Amino acid sequence: MVAMQAQIDGIKKSFISSLEQAQTDDQLEHLRIAFLGRQGSITLLMKEIKNLSVDEKRVWGPKLNQFKQEAESAFQEKKEALFIEQMQSAQQKEQFFDVTAYEPNQPRGSLHVYTRTVQRLEDIFISMGYNVIEGPEIETDYYNFEALNIPADHPARDHHDTFWINDNQLLRTHTSPVQARALETHGTPIAVFAPGRTFRHEATDASHDFMFMQGEVLYIDKHVSISNLLATAKTFLQAFFEKEDLTVRARPGYFPFVEPGIEIDASCPFCTEGCSICKKTGWIELLGSGLVHPNVLRCSGIDPETYSGFALGFGIERLAMIKYGINDIRLFHSSNLHFLDQF
Ligand code: PHE
Repeated sequence: MVAMQAQIDGIKKSFISSLEQAQTDDQLEHLRIAFLGRQGSITLLMKEIKNLSVDEKRVWGPKLNQFKQEAESAFQEKKEALFIEQMQSAQQKEQFFDVTAYEPNQPRGSLHVYTRTVQRLEDIFISMGYNVIEGPEIETDYYNFEALNIPADHPARDHHDTFWINDNQLLRTHTSPVQARALETHGTPIAVFAPGRTFRHEATDASHDFMFMQGEVLYIDKHVSISNLLATAKTFLQAFFEKEDLTVRARPGYFPFVEPGIEIDASCPFCTEGCSICKKTGWIELLGSGLVHPNVLRCSGIDPETYSGFALGFGIERLAMIKYGINDIRLFHSSNLHFLDQF
């Protein structure tokens, strides 16, 4: 019966060392199956009792039973110890990650005032049935000037006013080249809004910058008239300034690509009898516009006898400056956090 004792000792030794090494629930379960499961080494050893003689049974029966009970309670103890360990380490982790923690003074990002303003304008024009399109910032002489009926001796073609890249390419001086591109690509009828960056070679001050944004509106169909232009201008300005009683007035203006050319002023959104924003006039100059010149339509293969329409353009910063009370256009791309934090 030395053999039986040796078997018990051998199994006990490997059981204890496996128990010590087990760190996870999985390892513990493997161990249980290997020793205490139906085919486990302790269970199999117990089954050998029935092969023993009556005398042997009397000796080894209780010893084996005791061994099995000790193994089971050691296993149970280990299981509880492991559970407590896991709970403690989970609690420690929670100290570093508290989902209820909230730090009120954390700096937060926000949309740039450019983005906000452009998105607002896009929403307004989309709600009026327009599509939003874009054109390139580097333009050709043809689209920036020629297709827009701007003659060769026009001052905008001067090297002092424009950033030329070479004899034929320049940084666009306005978004109006998108008119010609859109007409060529999409034809008529067309209703598009094109916001984008524009560039002019000039000294900067609080209301002029070498880089600024414009919005271009183009609507061409049969029977489009100045009434449609004025109604569109009024509707969009009322929506942008959130003022239902805002009105517009038209003055003659000159832009080579429209005929007649019209400058549109809005009634001051801030006062009724004159303030510093409207320079005590009650009106603010906001839009350049007009009926698209027949030469521009012809240039894009559109018959001006059948189709007519309007174009209007405006400075996006200027609209935002009036709406939000910003006093210097250069702030827009200054990356000044004191300025940006307000939006
Ligand atoms: N492109 C003109 C400018 O930059 C504005 C404008 C657009 C005028 C559309 C009339 C029609 O001044």
